[in-house]
Amino acid sequence: MTDQFVAWFRGASPYINAHRGRIIVIHVGGELVEHEGFPHLIHDISLLNSLGIRLVLVHGIRPQVERRTAERGITTRLHKGLRVTGDAELAVVKEAAGAVRVEIEALLSMGLANSPMAGARIRVTSGNFIVARPLGVIDGVDFRHTGEIRRVDVGGIQDQLNQGGVVVVSPIGYSPTGEAFNLSGETVATALSLCLGAAKLMLLGSGEALTDGAGRPLRQLTLEQARALLETDSPGLGPAERHHLENAVHAGEYGVERVHLLDGRRDGALLKELFTRDGVGTLVSADPYESLRPATIEDIGGLLELLEPMEQDGTLVRRPREKLEQEVDHFVVMERDGTIIGCAARYPSDSPEAQELACLVVHPEYRRSGLGETLLDRVESDAASTGARRMFVLTTRTAHWFRERGYESGEVDDLPLTRRQGYNQQRNSKVLVKELG
Ligand SMILES: CC(C)(COP(=O)(O)OP(=O)(O)OC[C@H]1O[C@@H](n2cnc3c(N)ncnc32)[C@H](O)[C@@H]1OP(=O)(O)O)[C@@H](O)C(=O)NCCC(=O)NCCS
Repeated sequence: MTDQFVAWFRGASPYINAHRGRIIVIHVGGELVEHEGFPHLIHDISLLNSLGIRLVLVHGIRPQVERRTAERGITTRLHKGLRVTGDAELAVVKEAAGAVRVEIEALLSMGLANSPMAGARIRVTSGNFIVARPLGVIDGVDFRHTGEIRRVDVGGIQDQLNQGGVVVVSPIGYSPTGEAFNLSGETVATALSLCLGAAKLMLLGSGEALTDGAGRPLRQLTLEQARALLETDSPGLGPAERHHLENAVHAGEYGVERVHLLDGRRDGALLKELFTRDGVGTLVSADPYESLRPATIEDIGGLLELLEPMEQDGTLVRRPREKLEQEVDHFVVMERDGTIIGCAARYPSDSPEAQELACLVVHPEYRRSGLGETLLDRVESDAASTGARRMFVLTTRTAHWFRERGYESGEVDDLPLTRRQGYNQQRNSKVLVKELG
């Protein structure tokens, strides 16, 4: 148990370093506030604050508003999916926002001895950070107190974050005329992420974690893949999951580069997503290539961790640390949140025409979403740009993967001379060759 704890804690340290000082905007759906696990979620948020992450917490109030309006017999009107906020609804919105905010502030203030937040002493700030204007009249429908965001008081929020506080923002905006406007929590979280240059936006909802048609978790999607998924009627996409994914796509379309979708009902989901390699949610990112870059000496630890299991089962030839250090310039790596999740190497040969592709690896948790192919494309285009016309690869178990990507089976005699001489008969790898276009 102790050993497990030590290993786990050490494993988390790269993530702790990667996230420290960054701004993360977290949106917590109104339905989660009523979930039995909500106090745990808030404790986890307080832990993030203790680790130096600068947090802005936006909460929703949809179910709270719906319940109150129903109880009071107020019939609300929707137009184009947006609520028209009359006087009675605005009163309900203010009440619900106030109640939820106070609940969050109370939980963040907890600090009893023997509780997870003992000694935390977190300063929570909320305020008039969102300046709004009325949405106005659309198709002849007056939306009254439903608003849209006009401006964010970035300086005001940053001051609070710089002092180590957590900023809690309700989905209400204020206008210079002294009025309050009803806003959507997700839109507020998106606007805050963009204006504050947040490292990520985390949308915590109550939909299940996303899976593909075969029930496998979807850890990472590009914006394009996320849009394509919404077009399908994938069985893993119920109404709650669909709504959640739509919000992520909207945020991505507005320019938020990294949106994490999480099932906030899952105990510890936030911590697992931020501090473990595998995560538990889905990252919708604007650009899959942004994380692909040449390796540096700092990546050695991450590379070793990625390669070791595959060296042990014989899929890859063993490369000791010293060899990896010498050859690190040959590698490109794919990074997610400070961890290496994929790599590939390119070696020149004695023939200027031919280069070798080696050590193409994607972490098992991230396979089958095209990352292997992205790495392959990169290595091939790097080789072509240095004048190579042919790429070859030696593999024991992945021949078909390469053949499906334009490689043809070759013979040891097809290899450049030095590689032919160094060919390991015992390993008996297959040779595959591709003419670069
Ligand atoms: C090969 C590897 C890099 C592919 O990574 P990836 O990100 O999953 O690749 P992609 O998403 O682009 O492709 C996935 C497809 O390849 C198929 N595939 C994966 N490994 C395969 C193999 N050994 N043989 C044939 N097909 C394979 C998958 O089944 C999937 O296709 P499907 O969804 O139609 O079933 C990854 O499986 C890996 O790291 N393997 C271990 C290391 C290795 O063998 N490297 C090659 C030697 S240098």
